[in-house]
Amino acid sequence: MIFQRDFSLKKFNTFGIDVKAQFFSEIADVADLRHFYEIRSDNSPVLIIGGGSNLLFTKDYDGYVLQMKLKGIDVREDKENFYVSAAAGENWDDFVAFCVDHHFGGVENLSLIPGTVGAAPIQNIGAYGVEVKDTVFQVHTFNTQTLRNEVFDNNDCAFGYRNSIFKSKYKSELIIQSVTFRFSKKYNLNINYTGIANELKNRNLLNPSIADIRNIVCDVRNSKLPCPEILGNAGSFFKNPVVDKETFQRIENEYPDVISFEAEDGYRKIAAGWMIQKCGLKGFRVGDVGVHEKQALVLVNYGKASGNEILSLAEKVRSEVFNTFGLVLEFEVNIL
Ligand code: EPU
Repeated sequence: MIFQRDFSLKKFNTFGIDVKAQFFSEIADVADLRHFYEIRSDNSPVLIIGGGSNLLFTKDYDGYVLQMKLKGIDVREDKENFYVSAAAGENWDDFVAFCVDHHFGGVENLSLIPGTVGAAPIQNIGAYGVEVKDTVFQVHTFNTQTLRNEVFDNNDCAFGYRNSIFKSKYKSELIIQSVTFRFSKKYNLNINYTGIANELKNRNLLNPSIADIRNIVCDVRNSKLPCPEILGNAGSFFKNPVVDKETFQRIENEYPDVISFEAEDGYRKIAAGWMIQKCGLKGFRVGDVGVHEKQALVLVNYGKASGNEILSLAEKVRSEVFNTFGLVLEFEVNIL
């Protein structure tokens, strides 16, 4: 592995924040990863990045930043399923396109999500009624403490809404090397999400294909979500709060137009974008940072914003939502 010193991370985070890594290298080979941990003699922190699409850097990174570049896709099948193993460094949307091209149904609703395959299970990426946990079969990891490879079946991953053991319990211990997905040969398309159902009607598609769903998802996303290459952002900055019945009732009594979705065990997920909009912050801008004008869950960097400026705006959004609704918004993005 070749390390570069004081390396600018501007191109390695989708917010486009110009901070430096003390040491930077790519991981292009599994052996590199093992070798790095075997010979490492200092205690400097290590940050593994994929596409840098869920990160907000507020300062230089005093340690090692390793960019996951492992590549490769492998397909197996049995009578009922296809099993597709993809290396952690594969681009997520290229992987979705590969699946759609091969008629593997199950990830098409997750089209165009920025980032890599290896990052997908960490926060259980989700969109349009589908989460990656629905197709993850196994996650193959490298344990940085024991230097062993460990395989996690879906049930061992404790997947939740934008959560898993790779984000919580084993955050700094496990590095994902590859993910195996299972696609049933008898798949059902997931077309219930309002935005998708409406588009199917508009396009008069009564019997849509996997590719039709991908096209619709891409169009809906492009109409609402800013492209990180044009406008720095990390997708949803906040999670939608999941609240119990009583809390939801309290909010609905005061705001009958509240937008919410059913969640597990009688809980409800409230659309945080709607709450932020209700606080009058949609499209709010201060200097080079702003709340996106089409989707209030997304914070954007209009040019040369610093990580701390974005964080200040996030805190302002959080405090106004708390003052109005009495709910604390959790950050979806990792702050470093
Ligand atoms: N809404 C507003 N104002 C806004 C934004 C949304 O009123 O500014 C309303 C919408 O009109 C809609 C509802 O809130 O009725 C939900 O909006 P949307 O369908 O855009 O989804 P979301 O809940 O805001 C979540 C995910 C997105 C994902 C979409 C689509 C989270 C934190 N975000 O957003 O994921 O693309 O659903 O399924 O769960 C991401 O995680 O980075 C991300 C972009």
